[in-house]
Amino acid sequence: MPSSPSEPDKGIDLQIGQQTRPHMRQLTLQCAAVFSVLSLAWPYFGFRGEELPWPETALAIGAVALLIAILTRQPWWWWLIHALFAPLAWGISALSIDPGWFLLAFILLLLVYRGALSGQIPLYLSNNDTAAALAQLMPTRPGMRFIDLGAGIGSVVLPLAKAQPETQFTGVENAPATWLAGYFRTAGLANCKWRWGDIWRVNLAGYDVVYAFLSPAPMPALWEKIQGEMRPGSLFISNSFAIPGVAASSVVEIDDARHTRLYCYQR
Ligand SMILES: C[S@@+](CC[C@H](N)C(=O)[O-])C[C@H]1O[C@@H](n2cnc3c(N)ncnc32)[C@H](O)[C@@H]1O
Repeated sequence: MPSSPSEPDKGIDLQIGQQTRPHMRQLTLQCAAVFSVLSLAWPYFGFRGEELPWPETALAIGAVALLIAILTRQPWWWWLIHALFAPLAWGISALSIDPGWFLLAFILLLLVYRGALSGQIPLYLSNNDTAAALAQLMPTRPGMRFIDLGAGIGSVVLPLAKAQPETQFTGVENAPATWLAGYFRTAGLANCKWRWGDIWRVNLAGYDVVYAFLSPAPMPALWEKIQGEMRPGSLFISNSFAIPGVAASSVVEIDDARHTRLYCYQR
C-alpha cells in the first residue's frame, strides 16, 4: 500500500537502511526477527534434546517482527504484514501444498505486478470518467501527441484513441501480462502505438500531453525528467499523485467513486 503524497515514509530512527529500497528494508526486518528468535530457540531446544516447536516459534517470530516494525516506525500496514507473515507461512506449510504452485503464483503475480517490485508502481486502472476528463483537458489541434507512462491495459489510450482519431496516442508498459492485454486491445487502432518499454527510457520531448498514474514513489524523479525533456507549452497530467513541493497549474476533481484528482502541470 503506498503512502499518501502528503504523508511521506516516516523514516526509520533505528536505521534499518534508510537508503535501502523499501522492500529490501522490510525483508531485512523480517530476517532480523527470524534470526533473533532462531538464535535463541535452536540452542535452547537443542541442548534440551527437544524438537523445535514450530507453531510457537512462528508466533514468536511474528511478535518480534512486529516489535521491530513498531520500534523502527514502519508504516502501520507493515506492522500487520510482519506480525502475520511467519505464523501464516507456518500454517500454509502445514497444508503440504506442492511448492510448484507457489512458484506458479509468484510468476503470475510478477507478470502483472512487475512494476510494484521494480519501482513501487502497482497496477490499478484509470476509469472511464477519468478518460472522459482527459479528453476535455487535451488541446484540440491536429497532430497532437499523447503518451501514457505505464499504460496498464490501455484503459486511457484505448478510449481516447477511438474518440480522437486526429491525435497520436502512445502507451508504454513493462509488465508482460498487462502489456500483452493492451497490445491486443489496441491492435487495429491506426493512431495508437503500444510500446513495450521502461518509462524512464522514453524521451518525453516528442509529446504534447504526458499522462501518468503511478504512485508517490517515482514522482520527484519523474518531475526531474519532465523538466529536462518536456517542451514549453506541453502538459503533464498526473492521476492522484501530485509532485511534492510543486504547485500544479490546475487540479481537476472528477465526480467518481474514488474522487479522482488530476494534477495538471503546464510546461
Ligand atoms: C497504476 S497503473 C496505471 C495504468 C494505466 N496508466 C491506467 O491509468 O489505467 C501503472 C502502470 O505502470 C506500469 N509500470 C510501472 N513501472 C513501469 C516502468 N518502469 N515502465 C513501464 N511501465 C511501468 C505498471 O506495470 C502499471 O501497469
